[in-house]
Parts: sequence; structure tokens; C-alpha cells
Amino acid sequence: SQYQKGVRHLCESGITKIPRKYILPISDRPNSQKGDHNAENLSIKLPIIDFAELQGSNRSQILNSLAKACEEFGFFQLINHGIASDVILSMIDVAKRFFDLPFDERAKYMSSDMRSAVRYGTSVNQNKDGVFCWRDFLKLSCNPLSDVLPFWPSSPVDLREAAVNYSKQTKFLYVMLMEAIMESLGLVEATKDKNENESLNELMEDGSQLVVVNCYPSCPEPDLTLGMPPHSDYGLLTLLLQDEVKGLQIQHEGKWVTVEPMPNSFVVNVGDHLEITSNGRYKSVLHRVLVNSSKSRVSVASLHSLPFNCVVSPSPKLINEANPRRYKDTDFVTFLDYISSCEPKSKNFLESRK
Ligand code: SIN
Ligand code: FE2
Repeated sequence: SQYQKGVRHLCESGITKIPRKYILPISDRPNSQKGDHNAENLSIKLPIIDFAELQGSNRSQILNSLAKACEEFGFFQLINHGIASDVILSMIDVAKRFFDLPFDERAKYMSSDMRSAVRYGTSVNQNKDGVFCWRDFLKLSCNPLSDVLPFWPSSPVDLREAAVNYSKQTKFLYVMLMEAIMESLGLVEATKDKNENESLNELMEDGSQLVVVNCYPSCPEPDLTLGMPPHSDYGLLTLLLQDEVKGLQIQHEGKWVTVEPMPNSFVVNVGDHLEITSNGRYKSVLHRVLVNSSKSRVSVASLHSLPFNCVVSPSPKLINEANPRRYKDTDFVTFLDYISSCEPKSKNFLESRK
């Protein structure tokens, strides 16, 4: 249908009302929360993790804060991450310029193949979604970079370079963070078990990485739709870069709360695989995206997990009498089967593994 071309395209035609295709049922709209008629005004300060301090003499204290953040929020804000600001600014800038390209240029990268090296599209699953969300995206698979690079967009001319730099640097952060997280769960020890740590490192180095660039154009009727419906992230960890426009909300203590953009930081969240690995101790929390009527918003999410063929299961060290095993094993194929059999809504995939 006409909506397959995405919201950028739709907005370029100069609409003042949103088409019915994007209008959510009342109970799914941004302001449907009980007792709250202004959802975007409830904001939250996420726990802050100082990456530089994690590498220093305060490590054990930071590990405690990290554990607490992953248990209570499933989210934290990472500061002093050490990625040069030009790497970040170039990524955001090239992302914006990609969505500014003529539609026919963007359309070259449309694909419905989940395993494709590059996928441009709209909503969440444009072949299945009953109601569309107010979002266009570009997904870049990063496994392995040398193989996928020739398939990434050749326009804007600097996209590949910016995205390669960005993906390498976020991958490094991911590996360092996962090491810390595994340590905080008591699954690796700081100095002992060097061999075990090395094989863990290899698993993380060879892991899957998907860089997802999201574009949420300004929307004439933002109260009727969402940029992204409530979902939890499939992998171990997601590193999210948002521009200065707010929109991300997380579910916290039963309410939707807005994560205020914080310059020079990443929003990091626990994914389904980490909730499973931790046997439920760390939470893969529902989040969604609001749109607004005055500003378009861009975000770049880097999703990380184990290599595609790996089986994810609760760590045996975290299963005991007081804490029985809470999840079945899972893998990428199980996930693909799951989403091709029903609409990828809410926390259903994780629920299906319980
Ligand atoms: C996502 O949940 O993957 C995107 C979040 C955002 O755009 O802030
Ligand atoms: Fe997400």
C-alpha cells in the first residue's frame, strides 16, 4: 500500500492529519495511562554509570551500582564512555542525511529478509502490522563487517565510514560492559579463571551486532500514535544514542516515564538474552517511543548478542533451590519462528520462553 513507503515520504506530501493506518486504539495511545493525561511530562533520571571509573580503583563499587541499575531499571545512562565525539556526531549526522535522500534512493535498501546485511523499512514489521507506527528505519548488520560492508548504502558517500567507526567503537564498549556485567553477576572473577574469561571474551567478540538507525518525523497528531510500540529488546545489551529530542519512555514502577536526553552519553539497556542468562535477576524492560508535533527525532541503537548459532540459557551458577530455572533455552531460529508466527508485540517473546 501507499504506507509501505514510510512516514518520511508521507510527511513530504504535507499532511495535517494522520491517516487511519497510524491511529492506535484508545487503550494503546500515549496518554492512556490511568490518572495521567500528560504522559510526556513524567520523566526519570536513570542511574548513571561512569565508564571511566569502571576501569579504575572504584570498580567494585561501580559494579554494585551496575547490578542495582540492571535489577531495578533494566536501563542506565553511560557517561565518560571514551568514544570520541566526532565518531558520534558523524553517525547522527550521516543518519539524518540518509533519511533526507530522495525516497527512490532509500528504497534501494528495502528488504523483508531478517538476515539481510541492510534493511530499510517503516513501522516495525510493515508486512504484518495492523496499525503502523510513526517510524522509518535503516538496519545495518555488522557480522562480520568485511562481508556486509559492500551491501551497506553507498549514499551518502560517508555513511559506510561513519557507521563502521561507530559500530567498532560501540562493540568495544559492549564487550567491556558485558565483562563488567558478568562480573557483577558473579559469573566471572576479576583475575582468576583466565581461560574461562578468554572464551567468554571470544563469544562476545564474535557476537552479533545490529546497528538500527531510527527516524521519527514530526507528527501532526502525536497523541494518536507511537514512534515505537512497547517492546523489549531481543539480545544481551543495547547501546542507544539519542539526539536532543526526547521521546524514549521506559516502563518503571508500573508507569511510562520519559528518559531525558543527556548529551555525551549512551542509554544502555538489558535485553531478553541477558534476563534469561541472569535467570531473571536483570530485567529486560518494556520501552516505547513517543513522537511530537514540532521536531523530528533520530536515534541509533546498537543491539548486541551472542553469535547467531548460540543457545542462550540461564547460567547454571544462578540456578539453585531458592532460585529455580525460570526460562527455557532459546536461539535465533526460535526467535525468527516466533516473530513469523505472530505480531512482535510487547514482551511476548520473553514470555514465551518462561
Ligand atoms: C528502540 O527501542 O530500539 C529505539 C528507542 C529510541 O528510538 O529511543
Ligand atoms: Fe528497543
